Order: sequence, then C-alpha cells, then structure tokens
Amino acid sequence: SIDTAWGGRFQAAGSQWVDEFGASINFDQLMAAEDLAGSLAHVKMLGDTGILTAAEADQITAGLHTLQTELNAGQLTFDATHEDIHMNLEALLTEKIGSVAGKLHTARSRNDQVATDFHLYLKHRLPLVIDAIKQLQTALVNQASQHIHTIMPGYTHLQHAQPISFGHYLTAYYAMLKRDIERFEFNQQHTDLSPLGAAALAGTTFPIDREETTQLLGFKQPYTNSLDAVSDRDFALEFLSNAAILMMHLSRFSEELISWCSYEFNYLEMADEYSTGSSIMPQKKNPDMAELTRGKTGRVYGHLMGLLATMKSLPLAYNKDMQEDKEGVFDTVKTIIPCLKVMTGMIETMHVNTAQMQQAVQNDFSNATELADYLAAKGIPFRQAHAIVGQLVYEGIQNHQNLQDLSLAQFKAIDARIDADVYHVLDPTVAVEQRTSLGGTGFDQVESQVKQAQQELQLP
Ligand code: ARG
Repeated sequence: SIDTAWGGRFQAAGSQWVDEFGASINFDQLMAAEDLAGSLAHVKMLGDTGILTAAEADQITAGLHTLQTELNAGQLTFDATHEDIHMNLEALLTEKIGSVAGKLHTARSRNDQVATDFHLYLKHRLPLVIDAIKQLQTALVNQASQHIHTIMPGYTHLQHAQPISFGHYLTAYYAMLKRDIERFEFNQQHTDLSPLGAAALAGTTFPIDREETTQLLGFKQPYTNSLDAVSDRDFALEFLSNAAILMMHLSRFSEELISWCSYEFNYLEMADEYSTGSSIMPQKKNPDMAELTRGKTGRVYGHLMGLLATMKSLPLAYNKDMQEDKEGVFDTVKTIIPCLKVMTGMIETMHVNTAQMQQAVQNDFSNATELADYLAAKGIPFRQAHAIVGQLVYEGIQNHQNLQDLSLAQFKAIDARIDADVYHVLDPTVAVEQRTSLGGTGFDQVESQVKQAQQELQLP
C-alpha cells in the first residue's frame, strides 16, 4: 500500500506530473469555504444521528472551525499532492486533530461532497448576479425617466425607420434584463438542492439524516435520487446558458453605445472614467469598456459550449471529466458581475446629445409612415398610399427635399384630400406622441413603462 487516501489498493505512487495533471486544487480552492460549511453540516448530522459519538463530532467540529478561522485570515495553503480542495482540507484537519479526522468522511463520498460545494458556491453567487442586474436596470430606468421626451431615430436594418423616444429604447433593455433575472431565479430552483448524502452514487447504509444537512446548509430540498444528485450538472449549464443570454444582451447594448459614440452618430459621449485615449492619436476617446464587455461575451459563450461538450454522452454517475465543470463557471461569475458593473457606471454617467438625436429625425424620411398612415386615414388604400409616399421619397432624395418641405399645393396635386394638418402629422415629435398603442413609443406609454419599472425596482 502507499500513502494516499486510496493507497490500500495501490502498490505504486503516481509520478508528480501525473498527480498535477489530475489535480484541481489550483482552481477548486475557491470553494474552500463551501467545503468547510458542507463538512460542518455533515459532522453535525453524524453526531446527532449517533453515527459518530458526541465527543468525536465535537472534536471534528472544533478542528473545522479552526480551519475556517485560518481560511478567513488567509493562513491556509494548499498543494497538489492532495489533489483537490476536499483532500487538502481533510489533510489539514488531520494535522490539527489527528486520526479522528478520518471519521468525517463516514457516509460521504467526494462525489456528493464536490456536488454540494458546487451547489453552495452557485447558490451564494446567483443573488449577487441578480443584484448586479438590478443595479444596471436602475441606471437604465433613471436615464429613461430623464429622456421620455427625447426623440431619436429608431432603426431597423440600421436604417432610419421611425422616430422613437430614447426612454423607450432604454426601457427595452430594462425588459430584456428582467427576463435575465427571471432566468437566474429559475436557475436558483435547480441550484438550491442538496446532493449531500447521495454518497458515491447509491446512498449509504448509515442512518444519515439528509433533511438535517439540507436544512443546516440552507438548501430548499434534498435531491430525490442519489444517482441524479451526483450526476447532475444542469444547474451549472443553466447558469452558463443564462449568462450567455445576458452577455448577448450586453453585447448588443455595447454595440449600440459604441456606434452612437462615433463621430458619425454623435448621440452619446461616455464619461472620461469609462473611456480611454490613444497612445499616438491625441484626439481619440474610445468607448473601451463597452468594447471589452462586447468582447467578453465570447468567453462566456465558450464556457457554455465547453461544459455542454464535457457533459455530452457522460454515463451516470461521477466521471473525472466532471472536474472540468468548475473553471468556466467561476470565470463566468468573475466576468459577468464586472461587466454589469461597468455598464451600470457607463449608463449613469454618459452624456446624451439630445440635440443631435433630434437633428437626426428632423432631416430624414423617418416620417414617411406617418404620411402613408395619413393618406390611408383619408380613405386611400394603404398599399396605394405606401406607393405614393415611396414616390415622394424618391423625388425628395433627387431634389434634396424632405416630406415636410413640400408645399400644400404640391401635396394637393398628389391628392386633393390632403390638408394643411399634414404638416402636424409629419412632425417627428407628433409621430412619437401619437404612437399610443400599448407598449408603443408614445410618451405616455413610455412614461407608464418607466413608472412600472420604478415600482418593480422599488425606486423612490
Ligand atoms: N476534484 C474532483 C472534482 O472536482 C472531486 C471529485 C472527485 N471524485 C472522484 N471520485 N474522483 O470533480
């Protein structure tokens, strides 16, 4: 036999480089606090059920508390000879309290242990993610409330489509982020489950109390099926998938912010704190933080695809492949929270060039639908009205004239039913104001969207 946790069955120790290849301590030490919490709950249950004597449970508990204190003080060091966080902490516990430490692993496997740690890790991070999303929503709603009456071109195909309220644009992202929150909340239902007590895969012959450990760890429920409990990584995949969708949203937003900061659009200017300059071109002010957020979307997509591929075709229950589940999730948490934070700061501090936005809808044909609707309201079939206005736009482009530049006589020549009130209809502000359909860009509609959002966020 050799001197490892499973050495009885073995004659030869692995070479150091093979052990290092198999080790996860470099990254799973991030779950040290969760591992200690899991062990504390487990040993309390072992004592309460009489699986261990009260004295043994007390000794182990005291040792684990010492390790907790040392962890918080940054005094624990881990190494690859003990493969992962679970074995490292067990070795450290043995150093503290001697061989009784070996009783901690009664009725437990690293398979349910690692799953428990990972669930706890994510369970405690999900509220932080949701909170960061809410901060961004708050910044959006605060800006939206300032810009209900700011009009700008709405785009389809990146071509001027119809004028909209800038507040309407901002509340669209509010609504998208609300779905993100709902997805992470649903994710929490599948994360808030305790695998502890599933043991290796089949449960245990010891009279354990899974309800007790579930409750001690603050989980909602224990997994129903021990085989599922140690095999399941759906909660991590859901997290990565939700994060990928969130980042997709942030990347679309970033893309628009970047474009709108350009000389050509000039709708926005990011605050200095969220911009960088060039080492060679003195005039540059780059929206770097939006670009980096857009860029980081790639790694989050990568983590989702990575774990999907790792889990594909894996037989139940634990396979060492599953050690690959953690780094992508850790990195995703470390990526999305700062992205949300930086977006929040950018939105709070950006300068909105309302004059330029207004200018952009004043000198374009984004009021063409208004004229077609006007003609349709006068009784001209909409298809015919569309053709008439299309022809006017074509001529206007040739003559450098917008629709509102046509004289009443010119309008009358097209159709006698056109009156002077047509100029009112062609005003972009009126075009926005009159889109009063539910959820439309009409100022009243935008205002009620903003109000509802403020209520949902419980803003004053
Ligand atoms: N380091 C392993 C992981 O992260 C812990 C579980 C190991 N279990 C096992 N049977 N080898 O997945």
